[in-house]
Amino acid sequence: MVECANYDKGENKLMIAQRNDFTYQLLMDAGIKKGLRVLDVGCGSGEVTFLAAEIVGSTGEVIGFDSNETAIAAARDSAVKNQFANTKFIIAEIDKLPQDLGRFDAIVGRRVLMYQPDAVFSIKSLLPYLKTKGLVVFQESDSMGSFKDVDLMPLHTQVQTWIWNTVAKEGGNIHMGMNLYSVFKQAGLTISQIRAEAVLQTLETGSDLAWVVQMMLPRIIKLGVVNQKEIEIDTLEERLNSERQNANTVFVRDMAFGIWATIH
Ligand SMILES: C[S@@+](CC[C@H](N)C(=O)[O-])C[C@H]1O[C@@H](n2cnc3c(N)ncnc32)[C@H](O)[C@@H]1O
Repeated sequence: MVECANYDKGENKLMIAQRNDFTYQLLMDAGIKKGLRVLDVGCGSGEVTFLAAEIVGSTGEVIGFDSNETAIAAARDSAVKNQFANTKFIIAEIDKLPQDLGRFDAIVGRRVLMYQPDAVFSIKSLLPYLKTKGLVVFQESDSMGSFKDVDLMPLHTQVQTWIWNTVAKEGGNIHMGMNLYSVFKQAGLTISQIRAEAVLQTLETGSDLAWVVQMMLPRIIKLGVVNQKEIEIDTLEERLNSERQNANTVFVRDMAFGIWATIH
């Protein structure tokens, strides 16, 4: 089962906003608009589903699906709390979707292809659910290690490496962002646009690194990426804050890639 940090509360709000700003703009630029019927692949707790639901409005519909029951329960709770009547959430696997879902104007997803053993196969298995000339829109991250300013941000760099090494050891593709173009091509899609943006962490934005490490701690330890003593979780946040305060530079957390395409 793929873990997803945002099932839990307590994440840095600015980090969420930064992530969702990119996603919202991607959905808008790709052509998601009022009245469309959208499928959100690996929706987790529904962040992308709700962004799409805002855009399609009451005349549209967004169905989110995920294989993780806890995530779907959280998404359904949020939908009720925030009165998203135009959303529906189902528990399902990408390649085992119910036959009676109907067809969609757009299929969207964020940070889910990176966890598929064969992303081309996953995309292809979704295409029967897309209307003719329908849209396929995905956002994926890339660890992009070469951007790290190791000398000025050694602790940030170290912590980021622990996180990506854990994801990689679990079988996640930490370069899915860069791979998106080729995955879409191999799936036979006509690419409209691909874009990327560096995700920066500064004194002003704060950082989600300590929070993510806290969430992933059992997995990090179990996989032997680093031992508990070296992590020093109780002081990690404080040490990261102090590094950002003194470094007088930005930390490149990773790169967010966005792509959209159509089928003929
Ligand atoms: C990193 S989370 C991203 C969640 C959400 N898309 C977001 O951006 O907030 C990845 C999600 O994909 C789901 N997932 C991974 N592989 C899946 C599959 N084959 N079928 C359905 N869901 C899957 C996981 O359960 C997890 O909730």
